[in-house]
Amino acid sequence: MSTRHFLSLLDLNRQELRDIIGRAIELKSFQVQGTSHELLKNKVLAMIFEKSSTRTRVSFEAGMEQMGGSAIFLSPQDTQLGRGEPVEDTARVLSRMVDAIMVRTFEHEKIQRIADFSTVPVINALTDDYHPCQLLADMQTYQEHRGDIQGKTVAWIGDGNNMCHSYINAARLLDFELVVACPEGYEPMPSLVESNKDRVKIVRTPEQALPGASLVSTDVWASMGQEDERLRRMKDFEGFEVSLELMSIASEDALFMHCLPAHRGEEVSANVIDAPDSVVWEQAENRLHAQKALLEFLMC
Ligand code: CP
Ligand code: NVA
Repeated sequence: MSTRHFLSLLDLNRQELRDIIGRAIELKSFQVQGTSHELLKNKVLAMIFEKSSTRTRVSFEAGMEQMGGSAIFLSPQDTQLGRGEPVEDTARVLSRMVDAIMVRTFEHEKIQRIADFSTVPVINALTDDYHPCQLLADMQTYQEHRGDIQGKTVAWIGDGNNMCHSYINAARLLDFELVVACPEGYEPMPSLVESNKDRVKIVRTPEQALPGASLVSTDVWASMGQEDERLRRMKDFEGFEVSLELMSIASEDALFMHCLPAHRGEEVSANVIDAPDSVVWEQAENRLHAQKALLEFLMC
């Protein structure tokens, strides 16, 4: 059987995604109850990080440890990748030493090349185009709080970025409506919107996206690698800060999500993200449980 990779959510079918979310909820209860689940004993995960991370690094590393395996952190500064060794060669070598490779990088095409040359599963831990691991956690969090997301409306407020692209893929797999509110020039990938036009709609203001939304999600206005555009983006995204006033337009029981890190007073108001019933901390915690389920799916 050929090696399974997880470069985007679409590497899973609908049932597999549902199963991974269900298993994540189960593994979470094992963790809480202290039930041993060393399902990845002696397995090793290599983690290539070409961009910064707190949640992704710690959740993968802790997850491997909790499942009886281990993880190795690799950055370009400390490996030959930073001195120009081709990623294809790195993929071939790592494949002979570890059981899976996690990659956070810039161009999506680069992780595709790594997967082409890897004989072990490659996991996308964020590229400029997608962040599928975050969606596993977001969808787990929604399910835990509100049940099945099928048929619901989700509002994406802000940049049509890697997170937004993964929400589009989630809408396709889990069958929900996605309304993206973004300023002109910040739309998600046109080909992705086109191939999902039956369930993805682009609007120009948050006020147009929010009515009927059961989930409101946002992200930073300038992603990693776009730091130079920050000032221009702050201007262009005026009116897109998810505030209590905007949240009041959504469904009464709407959840607010943010993949973090967040900028209070930019894409989200402090009183929304820090509300007593905010689920963002649980959403972050679920990275751990969801990725443990993913690792089990890919490695066992
Ligand atoms: N949400 C997320 O991926 O966080 P990190 O950048 O801290 O890994
Ligand atoms: N869109 C953000 C997500 C960070 C987790 C970025 O790529 O920087």
